[in-house]
Amino acid sequence: MSVGIDDIQIATGHHVLDMSLLAEARGIEPAKLSIGLGQLAMSVLAPDEDIVTMAAAAAAPIVERVDASRIRSVLVATESGVDQSKAAGVFVHRLLDLPSTTRVVELKQACYGGIAGVQLAADQVARRPDDLALVIATDVARYDLASAGEPTQGAGAVAMLVSANPRLVELDAVSGLHTFDVDDFWRPNDRTTALVDGHLSTSAYLDSLEGAWRDLVARGGRSLADVAHLLYHQPFTKMARKAHARLASLVDGEIGALDEASLDVGAQLGNAYSASLPGALAGLLESGDRSGDGVGMFSYGSGSVGEWMTGVVRADAGVHDAGVRRAIDGRVPLDVATYEQLHAEHSASSEDRTLPRVTTGPFRMAGVEGGARRYERV
Ligand code: CAA
Repeated sequence: MSVGIDDIQIATGHHVLDMSLLAEARGIEPAKLSIGLGQLAMSVLAPDEDIVTMAAAAAAPIVERVDASRIRSVLVATESGVDQSKAAGVFVHRLLDLPSTTRVVELKQACYGGIAGVQLAADQVARRPDDLALVIATDVARYDLASAGEPTQGAGAVAMLVSANPRLVELDAVSGLHTFDVDDFWRPNDRTTALVDGHLSTSAYLDSLEGAWRDLVARGGRSLADVAHLLYHQPFTKMARKAHARLASLVDGEIGALDEASLDVGAQLGNAYSASLPGALAGLLESGDRSGDGVGMFSYGSGSVGEWMTGVVRADAGVHDAGVRRAIDGRVPLDVATYEQLHAEHSASSEDRTLPRVTTGPFRMAGVEGGARRYERV
C-alpha cells in the first residue's frame, strides 16, 4: 500500500499588486524585485478575506469530489492564525459542511506547518487506510510598509487530501529533518506583521536545507540525484534558486531540475508561508504530465524546522488541474495607494464590526459579533 497526496487545490486573495508599481513607489530599481528577488506580483486580501476564507476556497472543490464521511482529520497549518484558542479548521469544517465525526486541529511552525500536516496525515492513513485526511496550508505574509520584506509579501492556501493509494503523489516513508533554534523570522502575539533578520534568515534556510539533506542521506532516503523535479519553499523565488545551488554543491553528480512552473506560482502569488511549497507542487502537477517522475521537496519554517520530503508522481496521474492558473489570473489589480490603505486597515481586532462585501470568492468573513468571527458562503 502506498500513502500520499490524492488531490490538491490552490486558492489566493482577491487582489494583486504588480511588483513594478511597488518598485516605482518605493524608489527601488524594478530589476531588484523581478530579478534580484525573483518576484513579479503579490496577492493581497480583500477586507472580507483571511486565512479561513482562502482555506475553505481551496478545500471546497476537493470535498465536493470525495466521500466526505471518510474525512477523519482536518489539519490546518498557518502562521497567520485568527484566534489563540479555536482552530481555524473548525470554521472551515462548518463552511464545508463536513461531518461532525472529524478531528480538527491547527498546526504552527512558521512556513513548515503544511508539510508537518502532510506527514502527520500520511502516518494516520498508513495506520487506518480507510481514513482520508484533509491538510490545508493557508497564510498571508505581512511585513511593515517600506521594509526590506515588503516585496516578499503574498497570500495563498493549498488544500491536500492525503490517502492510501493516492491518485497523485506517492510519498516516501523516509524523510530528512533538521531543527535548530534561531531568531531569523518570528511574529510575537501582539504584532500583525513579522519581525525578521532577513540576511540571517536566508543563511538559516540554507543551513537547514543542508542539515535535512544529511539526515535524509543518513537514513537511506531517496537520492536527490534520482528525482526529476526539485521544489523548494519559496519566500521569494530567488531563494529557491539559491537553495537549488546549495543542493547541487552537496550531491555527487547531476541533480533534478528546478521546476520553472513552480517558480512562477511563487513569483506571482508572493510568499504564502506554509502554502508556498504545496503551491509549488500544485504548479508542477498542473503544468504538465509528470506521471512516474520522482519529486524532492524542501520545506523550511523559520525558527526553525526544515524537512526534505520525497515521492513519485503516480504512473497514471496525468495533468492535474489544481486551480493555479485560475487563482493567478482571477485577481483584481490594485494601485499602490489602495494597497497601502488595505495594509493599514488590516486588523486582528476582536471588536464587533460588519464587513462590506468585496471578495468574489466562494467564502467571506461577514464581520465580528460578540467578539467572535462570522464567516459565510457567498
Ligand atoms: N538588479 C538585479 N538584482 C539586484 C539589483 C538590480 N538592480 N539590485 C539588487 N539586486 C540583487 C542583489 O544582488 C541580491 O541578490 P543576491 O541575494 O543574489 O545577492 C538581491 O537582489 C536582494 O538584494 P538585497 O540582499 O540587497 O535585498 P534586501 O536586503 O533589500 O532584502 C531580503 C532581501 C533580506 C530577502 C528581504 O526581502 C527580506 O527580509 N525578506 C523577508 C525574509 C525572507 O523572506 N527570508 C527568506 C528565508 S526565511 C524563510 O524562508 C521563511 C519565510 O518564508 C519568511
